[in-house]
Amino acid sequence: MGSITWGREIAEVYDTTWAAKFEPAVLGPIVDLLAGLAGGGPALEFAVGTGRVALPLSARGIAVHGIELSPHMAGQLLAKPGADTIRVTIGDMTTTRVPGIFRLVYLVANTIMNVTTQDDQLAVFANAAAHLEPGGSFVVEVLVPQLRRVPPGEAGWVFTLDPDHVGIETFDDTAGQIAWSHHWIEVDGRLVRHSAPYRYVWPSELDLMARITGFRVRDRWAGWDRAPFASGSQSQVAVFGRLP
Ligand SMILES: C[S@@+](CC[C@H](N)C(=O)[O-])C[C@H]1O[C@@H](n2cnc3c(N)ncnc32)[C@H](O)[C@@H]1O
Repeated sequence: MGSITWGREIAEVYDTTWAAKFEPAVLGPIVDLLAGLAGGGPALEFAVGTGRVALPLSARGIAVHGIELSPHMAGQLLAKPGADTIRVTIGDMTTTRVPGIFRLVYLVANTIMNVTTQDDQLAVFANAAAHLEPGGSFVVEVLVPQLRRVPPGEAGWVFTLDPDHVGIETFDDTAGQIAWSHHWIEVDGRLVRHSAPYRYVWPSELDLMARITGFRVRDRWAGWDRAPFASGSQSQVAVFGRLP
């Protein structure tokens, strides 16, 4: 398995550290788009984490099931109000099957990159296909690799430089498309360190994985506001349609 399990320490500070991602202005367009694609049918979130997206989507009346590798992250979700409406299965999104057929499977917040081999990323697509009804949607939100931000001769770049959060990305293995994301975060007066490898993936490679596993690209936007995706886009929201 090409994934690292998120530990208790990062699980406990996830919502505080990434508080900006929980803002209604951020979550609103995400939930609008996902609820529209679900169309009243059931949805499955791969890597549901602490329920940032699953909880407000469920509050819209969508039945949400989540698969999550880290019991610590899932534990945070299950302790929240409204969590009783969400089914959570501890497992690996590359292989774990849950009962039912879904109209929507979604994988947000760059998390396809937490799966660190091409074979395993392909397995994520295959697992999404296995859970979807024909015509159903697999939504992937993932950044566009920013190798051009690294100055020639340097190993990495600083992507966040806030008083309470420093983030450095290093490109350690460009042949294997492996980078590391290093965070130093101040939470309640203490310093939390979180480093993890990820496998960055190009839009064209995602499209090929989709094609191999029975999808076709239906839409690709630069963000949840459905801005057009273009050469300079730094992120993407891709919608893959499950072929009959
Ligand atoms: C950046 S968080 C995203 C959580 C949530 N989707 C959100 O939007 O806030 C990444 C999550 O992916 C989970 N994860 C990483 N690899 C996984 C895998 N192979 N299967 C299931 N979950 C995984 C981690 O445990 C962590 O909870």
